[in-house]
This record gives sequence, C-alpha cells and structure tokens, in this order.
Amino acid sequence: MPQTVLVTGGAGYIGSHAVKGLQASGYNVIVLDNLVYGHREIIEEVLQAKLIKGDISDRALLDNLFASHQIDAVMHFAAYIFVGESVENPAKYYRNNVVGTLTLLEAMVAAGIKNLVFSSTCATYGPPQQIPLTEDHPQFPISPYGMTKLMVEKMLADFDSAYGLKSVCFRYFNAAGADPSGKQGEDHNPETHLIPLVLLAALGKRSAISIFGTDYPTPDGTCIRDYIHVSDLAQAHILGVQYLLEQGESAAFNLGNGNGFSVKEVIETAKQVTGRDFKVELRDRRPGDPAVLVGSSEKAQKVLGWQPQYSSLETMIDHAWQWHQQRHC
Ligand SMILES: NC(=O)c1ccc[n+]([C@@H]2O[C@H](COP(=O)([O-])OP(=O)(O)OC[C@H]3O[C@@H](n4cnc5c(N)ncnc54)[C@H](O)[C@@H]3O)[C@@H](O)[C@H]2O)c1
Repeated sequence: MPQTVLVTGGAGYIGSHAVKGLQASGYNVIVLDNLVYGHREIIEEVLQAKLIKGDISDRALLDNLFASHQIDAVMHFAAYIFVGESVENPAKYYRNNVVGTLTLLEAMVAAGIKNLVFSSTCATYGPPQQIPLTEDHPQFPISPYGMTKLMVEKMLADFDSAYGLKSVCFRYFNAAGADPSGKQGEDHNPETHLIPLVLLAALGKRSAISIFGTDYPTPDGTCIRDYIHVSDLAQAHILGVQYLLEQGESAAFNLGNGNGFSVKEVIETAKQVTGRDFKVELRDRRPGDPAVLVGSSEKAQKVLGWQPQYSSLETMIDHAWQWHQQRHC
C-alpha cells in the first residue's frame, strides 16, 4: 500500500514542487494549506492532489485529519517567509511559524506520527564565519524570520528526545527556477526574490531592477548567493522522507548548489536567456546583507544520496522564464 505524506504549505512555491515529486515517487499526498499565499489551482487542477484548506494552528482540524487518514510522514513547508516583514511585525512570524508549528507537532505526537521534514533556512546561521557554510556553523540569526526557524529546529530536537519524533531539517539557500514542464513555478505576492524580480523586469512588469551595493569584496562588487533549483529541492525532500521512513536519525542538512552567483551574473544571464534588455539601477548596500552566502551540501549528498540535476544558473533562469512567460502572457 502506498505511504501517505501530509504536505503543509503544499500550495506554495516549494511545497507544490514537492507534491509533484511525491506523486512521481508513488506516495499518496494530502495538502494542508490555508491559501493565504498558496494557489489552489496548482494543487487541484495541475497536480490533481487532495487539498484541505485549513491552518496548521487549528488543533481540532489536525486531530480530525490525523484520525481520518493514515499519515506516515509530514513535510512542513507552511510558514510566513518575508524577512523584512518579520522585522516590522515579529509577532506575526512567531505566532505562525513557531506557535503554529508547535500545534502541528503536538497533534502529531498525540496521533503517534513520528516523521517530519522541516523547511529551515540558511538564515538560521546569521553572518557567515566561514564559506562555504556547513551544518556545524554556529546559528545566530539576525532576523525574526531566521529566529522562528531556529526555534523550530530546537523544538524538534527536544521533541525527538522526549517523544521520539524524528525530523530532517533542510536548511535551504535561495530556491529558484520552476518545474521543467512550465506548469508550476514561483508566484509570491509580494515578490522579494531576485530571479523572479529580474524576469518581471524582462517582461516589462517592473520598470527596473535594483542592485543593492556594488562595492562588496567580490569579483564584480555585488553580493554572491547560492541558488538551488526548486525541483532539486523537491527531490531532496523525497529522499528525506525515505530516510526517516527507513528509521534514519534526526538530522539537519544544507540544500544549496555549492556555487555562488553574483547579482550582476544573475542579471546578465537573465538578459541572455530572455533576449531582453531592462533598466538596472545601482543603489547603496542594504544593512545586514553579507557579501557572500554559499553553503556546502556535501552532507545531503553523502547521507541521502542527493544529486542535484539542474545546477547551472542558465537552466534555473530558463525554467523560471518558461513559467513566467506562460503565467504573464
Ligand atoms: N523560497 C525560498 O527561497 C526559501 C528559502 C529558505 C526557506 N524557505 C522555507 O520554505 C518554505 C516554503 O517557502 P515558499 O517559498 O514555498 O513559500 P510560499 O509562501 O510560496 O509557501 C508557503 C505556503 O504555506 C502556506 N501557509 C502559511 N502559513 C500557513 C498556516 N498557518 N497554515 C497553513 N498554511 C500556511 C501559504 O499559504 C503558502 O502556500 C517556508 O517554510 C520557507 O520559510 C524558503
């Protein structure tokens, strides 16, 4: 009998790609999403998966869901994700990302569900002390968003010790790209990520793209970030679930490309891939932006056997471009 995975936040960007990966690997999938930022049509029309519209903080809903379905593992993507907003309104983030997750974990323990894959982030590390970042790097997040994710990681360690709930925490770098089919992709509102912003500029939906800081100690003076294709992220989640279902111990893994790309490289590559020119504005540095953020994903490759398929920047931008054209034209 196929095993069943509950995907919280499955109607969002990364979660919906994981739903596709789970389906392709033969799992039953149930999506729980409050649709505050998710897209119903991706789940119901494109992927034709079961969607429950609801909130992770609704304990009665979770108890009902767990009583009426045999759930083998949970992939937990549901969270608020905007770093800037978390600085302005931290309560919103602690309430949703921490208290909401606590409710989910309590309901899982009550229902005897022992396996959870959690969407953590490189933002839990804070300012890098060495590059590439490895999983044992100290974790001192500088934003409330990063702190909410670190708090969940700490809760998960305690829930393992006390209740035997096993978890895989994936610390993602910058998710990018779109499903190669062109049928699902990144659609945040507001959009804050560089690649979709650049493509919106290429489509003429934004008047210009800003580069924040051109005097960093990097080869072209702009910040370098690690981008990871969303389908590669999704594949890592399938391996993470399998690892837990095969009695793996709780663990944290970076998921990145290992190769950094500068802001200027992203813009130039987008101009080549799209064949369009757009206005670029040079601005001052933003506080809190480190010059380079690149992670090592060797641990995920060794322990889980993860092999990213789409590491080139051209491919990530090309897939994202297919999606954006289809969505906006
Ligand atoms: N996008 C990135 O580059 C990135 C990087 C690091 C970590 N992450 C983490 O990955 C996860 C997914 O990110 P994404 O980019 O797909 O974001 P997203 O906003 O597209 O997806 C999040 C989904 O969760 C849902 N949701 C939020 N709160 C909920 C709640 N209380 N109950 C039910 N559903 C809820 C939203 O409606 C949305 O569909 C998040 O946890 C995020 O913190 C993302």
